[in-house]
Amino acid sequence: MTTPAAVIVDAAAYAQAVEDTVKAAAAYYAGGTSPLDDDAYDQLVRGIAAWETGHPEQVLPDSPTGKVAGGAAEGDVPHTVAMLSLDNVFSPEEFTAWTASLARRIGHDVTVFSAEPKLDGLAIAARYTDGRLTRLITRGDGTAGEDVSHAIGTLEGLPLELAEPVTVEVRGEVLMTTAQFEHANEVRVAHGGQPFANPRGASAGTLRAKERAYTVPMTFFGYGLLPLPDTEAALAARLGELAHSALMAQAAVYGVNTTAATAVPGITATTVEQVLARVQEIAALRATLPFGIDGVVIKADLAADQHTAGSGTRAPRWAIAYKLPAVEKITRLLDVEWNVGRTGIIAPRAVLEPVTIEGSTITYATLHNPADITRRDLRLGDRVMVHRAGDVIPRIEAPVAHLRTGDEQPIVFPEVCPRCGAGIDTSEQRWRCEMGRNCHLVAALSYAAGRDQLDIEGLGHTRVVQLVDAGLVADLADLFTLTREQLLGLERMGATSTDNLLTAIETAKGQPLSRVLCAPKRCSRSRASAPRRPHPSSPSSPNWPRSSTNSPRPG
Ligand code: IVH
Repeated sequence: MTTPAAVIVDAAAYAQAVEDTVKAAAAYYAGGTSPLDDDAYDQLVRGIAAWETGHPEQVLPDSPTGKVAGGAAEGDVPHTVAMLSLDNVFSPEEFTAWTASLARRIGHDVTVFSAEPKLDGLAIAARYTDGRLTRLITRGDGTAGEDVSHAIGTLEGLPLELAEPVTVEVRGEVLMTTAQFEHANEVRVAHGGQPFANPRGASAGTLRAKERAYTVPMTFFGYGLLPLPDTEAALAARLGELAHSALMAQAAVYGVNTTAATAVPGITATTVEQVLARVQEIAALRATLPFGIDGVVIKADLAADQHTAGSGTRAPRWAIAYKLPAVEKITRLLDVEWNVGRTGIIAPRAVLEPVTIEGSTITYATLHNPADITRRDLRLGDRVMVHRAGDVIPRIEAPVAHLRTGDEQPIVFPEVCPRCGAGIDTSEQRWRCEMGRNCHLVAALSYAAGRDQLDIEGLGHTRVVQLVDAGLVADLADLFTLTREQLLGLERMGATSTDNLLTAIETAKGQPLSRVLCAPKRCSRSRASAPRRPHPSSPSSPNWPRSSTNSPRPG
């Protein structure tokens, strides 16, 4: 799927687009959450590039085009070799066109490609002196980066000591795995901070934060290995001649983590078709990976081809990022529904402003349990980062806290079971209707006894709970065989109420067929999904109302 370019109609729209992307890139690289999701950012940059092609004399100096990190990142530690960005393609056609232009540039078709996942984190250069990790530097603007050596020791996969005492620079991506991200947000919230909206923002924020009371682990994946000025000459010469795939094998021998250890290892391929097949394979595995990827990086594998192709100021000509469709979008949390499962588990579900991810419209996302909502400090009206990869149920990563307007409302939890009205057992993280599996029975009987159905006076919600609790009724038919003795044995059931109820049940036997047909629960609209109920989370209605549109008898 090709990301369309945003349409920019005039110089004012162009200036606005430049301003928006500059702000977004700054937040992205500083560890904040960009107000634009990746898709929206890519579309805007494409629109900016298209407009600049038609108006080269009006290009603004702040424009993100042609700059590493959109011009947002900075730093003062010079890179010995520029740390470049990558150009993008979005479709097989664009990729094939790229290989053709590369072939023209180097004078022949590329005979070996490498293809590896594009890890969704931050680029980092790790300098080793005589095998010891001495310095960590961010990519910055590509020519100089920020010293983040304070993170040494917190990056899994980047050993403090290599297996050989070599002086080299390892380049790669720092990211948080799903488990690391969850842990980081827990620790951050426990320290009074706002949760990060997604793993990428979490890694950026964590890497650049110098004085934190806590450390959280991240993971490193190497995708480059190069000599430093102090590297022994023979080793420098050898590294300069090795193909990318061989460099990755060497990095692994040194003890550095690479994609080889994952379900989507880097591979080599000899044809465009093989590369495209690998892109499909990686895309298919994406949802199952414990870390985020946003594409596949394809490189001319051989050192000679790379040298001949050379690099531009922003990106090498011998490598390209084949971007996969974004799996994260920012949208708004409109509502929270509380659905009761077969076993009585009461599960919250987010109702979202519809958003399209990978061609599907997402309107709901899972919210695991009330504690999860509290932990993540979600509020109604929040802008939230929604994640959906493959067929996995969409989930809310976190609120984008800095986009709050102040109008967001707290999510109020139900105080009684939204299905049957009984109490809620909140002793565990997952809330459960106190009626458990009988919750459905209570709801079904309360409904059947309602005014518009069998109209059984005296059989309100509380009485139904009592009957089910005492084991006197297991289905609707049991109501009609209740005896006077059984009813008298119930608490707070005197002779008058018992007789009245028995009379009402007797009367119900004479209801017309239409009322009888309506009584079984399946005739009603499902109350469990309850979008028509007044919302429990709005401050004006802290409880589910006991009487519903189906008018069961009051308890
Ligand atoms: S190669 C000169 N390989 O993507 C070649 N980059 O959008 C530069 N990235 O700056 C990078 N996974 O931070 C390469 N397997 C991979 C990658 C990868 C993620 C990042 C890297 C780069 C950015 C460009």
